Amino acid sequence: MNTLSHFATPQLQLLHRGKVRDSFRIDDSTRLIVVSDRLSAFDSVLETAIPHKGAVLNGLANFWFEKTAHIISNHVKGMVDANAMLVKEAQPIKVEMVVRNYLTGSMLRGYQGGQRTFSGVTVPDGLTKHQQFPEPIVTPTTKEESDREITPANLVSEGWVSQELYDKMAEKALALFKVGSDLLAAQGIILVDTKYEFGLLNGELILIDEIHTPDSSRFWSAADYAQNPEGAEQMDKEYIRQWLIANKKDGAYPRALTPEVTQEAVNRYLDIYQRVVGQPLATAGDTEDVTERLTRNLVKAGLLK
Ligand SMILES: Nc1ncnc2c1ncn2[C@@H]1O[C@H](COP(=O)(O)OP(=O)(O)OP(=O)(O)O)[C@@H](O)[C@H]1O
Ligand SMILES: [Mg+2]
Repeated sequence: MNTLSHFATPQLQLLHRGKVRDSFRIDDSTRLIVVSDRLSAFDSVLETAIPHKGAVLNGLANFWFEKTAHIISNHVKGMVDANAMLVKEAQPIKVEMVVRNYLTGSMLRGYQGGQRTFSGVTVPDGLTKHQQFPEPIVTPTTKEESDREITPANLVSEGWVSQELYDKMAEKALALFKVGSDLLAAQGIILVDTKYEFGLLNGELILIDEIHTPDSSRFWSAADYAQNPEGAEQMDKEYIRQWLIANKKDGAYPRALTPEVTQEAVNRYLDIYQRVVGQPLATAGDTEDVTERLTRNLVKAGLLK
């Protein structure tokens, strides 16, 4: 099937190749983020790219940046293609602002091991797996080789951020989380947890990176959660993870997916997009090669010759 597994061009300087996104330098104040169809599971990128996944993630991020612009300015300059966004170059703040509303993931593992304080936030005894917190909590980490749980006080004393800036980031993160949770709840989706990244642009705090995408957030189906909270699973990726676990050979996960599993993953991503945005992904029916379309759109935008 027609996918964008990575993008490269001799005309643009590659700034960064992440697990999923390829970022390019346009000029001092502008970068191009190309969201590929790569999928990472268990911390490694699969050989099989998922058709439409990049457009779904890029489209969702763009949707949320628009929906939250009244809370905080963001880095978006414009969508140049379904898979690519032109953004303002900011001075990134090396902190991930994680917001959680349910006990799951790494925090659940810590909790089950007896930990009660996470990045300076203490939660009560007696919580059960996937239980909702009384209020969403902010559990920041540093952005380093391997992210580290850290208290706001230590973020300040280690010089990652000033107290004033941290307070503003925490306030904005919670406000963003509320907008996200409310809108998703109306679509039967629980925003379980997510992370935000911020940057400074001419001294102003802005939202960068991505927002409320399946790669930066956990989504559960509200119906699944109501039926069996402890059994709630990530709407996008859990299906693939389970397939990888079931098909482990000699202790290693498969590197590639079957066409059937890939198709199921595509359906899940397209379904999430449609539920959130309220209309189908515009490019879902396209048959044109994605790299060709992207290149054509970059030329049209004057970014490539
Ligand atoms: N507008 C921006 N200005 C400057 N830096 C940005 C902007 N938007 C995002 N970034 C940074 O660009 C980098 C791109 O990261 P990307 O998510 O593609 O890969 P990664 O974070 O290194 O790895 P992973 O794939 O695990 O997320 C991040 O460090 C992010 O903070
Ligand atoms: Mg990242």
